Amino acid sequence: MSNRRVFILGGANTDFLGKGNPNFIWKNHPDFGKRENPTLEEQLKAAVDLCFAETGIDPTLIQRGYVGNFVGELFSKQGHLGAALAGSHPALAMKPMTRTEGACASGGLAMLCGMDAIKAGSDVVLVAGVEVQSNESARVGADYLARAAHYARQRSIDDFTFPALFGRRTKAYRAAFGVTEEDIGRAAVKAYGNANKNPLAHMRARKMDLDTAAASSEKNPTFLQNAEYAPFIKMSDCSQVSDGGSALILVSEEGLRKLGKSMYDCIAIVGTGHATASLYEDSDPTVLSTTAHAVGEAYKAAGIAAKDVRIAEVHDCFTVTELMMYEAMGLAAPGHGGDLLREGATDIGGKVPVNTGGGLVGFGHPVGATGVKQAVEIWRQMKGKCGAYQVASTPGIGVSVNMGGDDRTTVVGVYRNVG
Ligand code: CAA
Repeated sequence: MSNRRVFILGGANTDFLGKGNPNFIWKNHPDFGKRENPTLEEQLKAAVDLCFAETGIDPTLIQRGYVGNFVGELFSKQGHLGAALAGSHPALAMKPMTRTEGACASGGLAMLCGMDAIKAGSDVVLVAGVEVQSNESARVGADYLARAAHYARQRSIDDFTFPALFGRRTKAYRAAFGVTEEDIGRAAVKAYGNANKNPLAHMRARKMDLDTAAASSEKNPTFLQNAEYAPFIKMSDCSQVSDGGSALILVSEEGLRKLGKSMYDCIAIVGTGHATASLYEDSDPTVLSTTAHAVGEAYKAAGIAAKDVRIAEVHDCFTVTELMMYEAMGLAAPGHGGDLLREGATDIGGKVPVNTGGGLVGFGHPVGATGVKQAVEIWRQMKGKCGAYQVASTPGIGVSVNMGGDDRTTVVGVYRNVG
């Protein structure tokens, strides 16, 4: 394995749009009928433009690019997104650009491909992620997203296949460890509370209190038809159906020299993990075993342990997943993820702040963008760019965990703040 070092020079996220975001054009918006929400190509271009503006680099120096996307063909009738990335800025024409797909870990896979390119000799690489989902109803979208499960076997669990699969996990997890609805509801309260401080978060204008998050009500209904799992997933337990894009620049040490930048402008990626489990089988619903495997690999590569982590971005596709992620990362013992939320340990002011911008529940989940957004967020926190949700002391070591499907593909990154 090449020992070339890989750095994140910087990146940016678009406004994550969808129902609940004040900028989203929807029935009651004053611009309804006058203008439309950005398309897939507009979201991708916006993310790339924002990334170039943030880093101030000369785009002609980009040598290759990767874009994570799950189902552009279904939501936007558009595939071939490597060519879409090449078309998102005139300076990218004719450069090698490739799309990566691994369900909700598509963005994480784009990161890994970008790193491999640097390790193999490239010096400046663009990594992007994008998804647009709001042009279909949540019910139709759920059928598209169900392609991240084993469709032939799991689609029939419910029209909302993924909420039902995580209803299954919630039921099993609560029964195994005696975890309450309130324990899990705290993940939603934290997610919305952090999103309220983040000007790009899908749910920045929506409030969530523990009374609402901890029990179903007219305001926060359950919605599955599957009678066994329906009681275990409410609206507030779900990540959002968001549109959005994220992009960042990876560089080698030589790339830094070419761009006239210093290592201290960057964060280093010091370890990664990538694990994939069979699509055709289910595993123990109370544990994220594929994720735990990828975390172990990444910690080993970085030479760190759970106690060293100072900030994290985890894949809270549903509230219960956040608790299970803490456990897969070794931050909490099995069944004790909820303790961290109760103690405030993962709050912005806590010992290990997690999902400071709101995570998938609060910031939103434009599927293909999420894995890239997580890395952008770690970089932003380490460089003091998070404004109202900035953590007080600069984190030295950060971890991102991006999960595809029902814990089938996981990509983990470990980052070290160089400056
Ligand atoms: N009372 C009872 N039921 C209600 C209700 C109410 N007040 N309001 C809505 N519902 C029910 C209805 O059945 C409704 O469907 P129909 O309108 O088609 O009948 C359904 O809930 C959804 O309602 P909306 O469309 O109005 O809801 P929404 O647009 O606000 O969406 C959500 C809410 C369904 C929870 C949606 O946010 C969602 O689907 N979130 C999850 C997205 C998801 O699964 N992402 C993937 C995560 S998994 C992952 O990350 C890994 C991977 O690889 C995929």
